[in-house]
Amino acid sequence: MQMTMNNTAHHMKLGLFVRPVGHHVASWRHPDSHADAGVNFQRFVEMAQTAERGRFDMMFSADTQSAWTTHPDGLHRMHYVAWIEPFTQMAALAGFTRNIGLVCTASTTYEEPFALARKFASLDIVSEGRAGWNLITSGNETEAQNFGRVAHPPKAERYRRAREFAEVVIGLWNSWDEDAFVRDRASGVFFDPDKMHVLDHHGKYFDVRGPLNVPRSPQGQPVLVQAGASDDGMELAAETAEVVFAAQSRLEGGKAFYAGVKGRMAKYGRNPDHLKILPGLAVTVGRTEAEAKEKYARMQDLIHPDVGLGLLSRRIGFDLSGYPLDGPLPELPKNDVVASRADVVVEMAKRENLTIRQLYQRFAGARGHLEVVGTPAQIADTMQLWFDEHAADGFNVILPYFPGGLNDFVDGVIPELQRRGLFRTEYESATLRGNLGLPVPETLHGRVPELEAAS
Ligand SMILES: Cc1cc2nc3c(=O)[nH]c(=O)nc-3n(C[C@H](O)[C@H](O)[C@H](O)COP(=O)(O)O)c2cc1C
Repeated sequence: MQMTMNNTAHHMKLGLFVRPVGHHVASWRHPDSHADAGVNFQRFVEMAQTAERGRFDMMFSADTQSAWTTHPDGLHRMHYVAWIEPFTQMAALAGFTRNIGLVCTASTTYEEPFALARKFASLDIVSEGRAGWNLITSGNETEAQNFGRVAHPPKAERYRRAREFAEVVIGLWNSWDEDAFVRDRASGVFFDPDKMHVLDHHGKYFDVRGPLNVPRSPQGQPVLVQAGASDDGMELAAETAEVVFAAQSRLEGGKAFYAGVKGRMAKYGRNPDHLKILPGLAVTVGRTEAEAKEKYARMQDLIHPDVGLGLLSRRIGFDLSGYPLDGPLPELPKNDVVASRADVVVEMAKRENLTIRQLYQRFAGARGHLEVVGTPAQIADTMQLWFDEHAADGFNVILPYFPGGLNDFVDGVIPELQRRGLFRTEYESATLRGNLGLPVPETLHGRVPELEAAS
């Protein structure tokens, strides 16, 4: 394990948002991207190794279990439509990396807790303590049609199920004490029965006997990440999450969200430092501001209107086809599918008086996240401001295309953050939990964890 003299208390945490071709919808049309990267595992390896060279805390893979990522009219122009499933990606990347955390998204609406707890505990073993689960309740309505439903259950219902789901998963991750498996050949005792805990959960949504057929994992339990920003989402995060991926495009909104989630933790007996809030940060890096703007404009010009309109329609839960592209956004009916993220976009359109075309151009790149186009120093200024103002503990970095966007960030922005003493120069720990400065959770059975704890 590498130890350094870094003052980690004042360090940002950084995730790399994984979209193999790039986050930008038009990234596959960019001459320097790899259009086949979604199904070319070698490209994932290069990305992970570059991120590790940049000392990122984690790779973060969002997910949707549906190919219908946009309106049907624009679908044949989308690169998001087919790529290697995140769990398979991360398990395979474990063998090509040493320190970087491996976080996959999995839905509490369409998974089952036993199978999910088992997979993540196994990923934690395979990666020697680098697994994280991004808990989501599912944003893409078409996912429902792949799981025997016409539509998602209502959001409040999804969150009730999510809460019980998380409780069951955590319970299962506590099935075994660390020293349960004695494997004593002489006596013939494989495990100590007093150190096995049968969950026997009976709730509204799940009946799960347990125990898990995977032992306690290297981090005690995989790191629990969450993405969901409504009141219900914030409450669940305050109760259970260790990292929150947020979508906030303005400092004031970011500060309110940060205070809102951390402020709720006391009632669950939790220390606010034990949850790291990472807003998405979409960046285009240039050696000069003019160069960055030119790179940005070049990418925006590649967005086909069918794609921009389709994505925007899906995000706001309202079909905009037929509305004039150079006219304003119409008044929208209330809808709860992706409410918190729709609000960010609609608010942006109103605030800046944007036409539908201007809005989809803005949205299709950054998807409602904070966006900075500039030099490494300008990007670091924004990051530092959000960090100092308690709007962020770090960022989930969203790059327009790979590999160029990531190289620009690792070679330009990371050294700038390091010069300012805002980011590590070496990993502090071999585990994701250790690098994030998160403690090993206490076990549910009154035993003090003996694993490495960062704080
Ligand atoms: C920052 C952020 C990231 C999200 N990532 C995903 C994702 O990868 N896959 C998915 O199906 N839903 C994703 N969601 C959607 C949530 O699962 C949720 O269904 C939706 O946001 C509605 O809940 P909310 O209003 O609490 O945010 C994300 C939401 C947010 C805010």
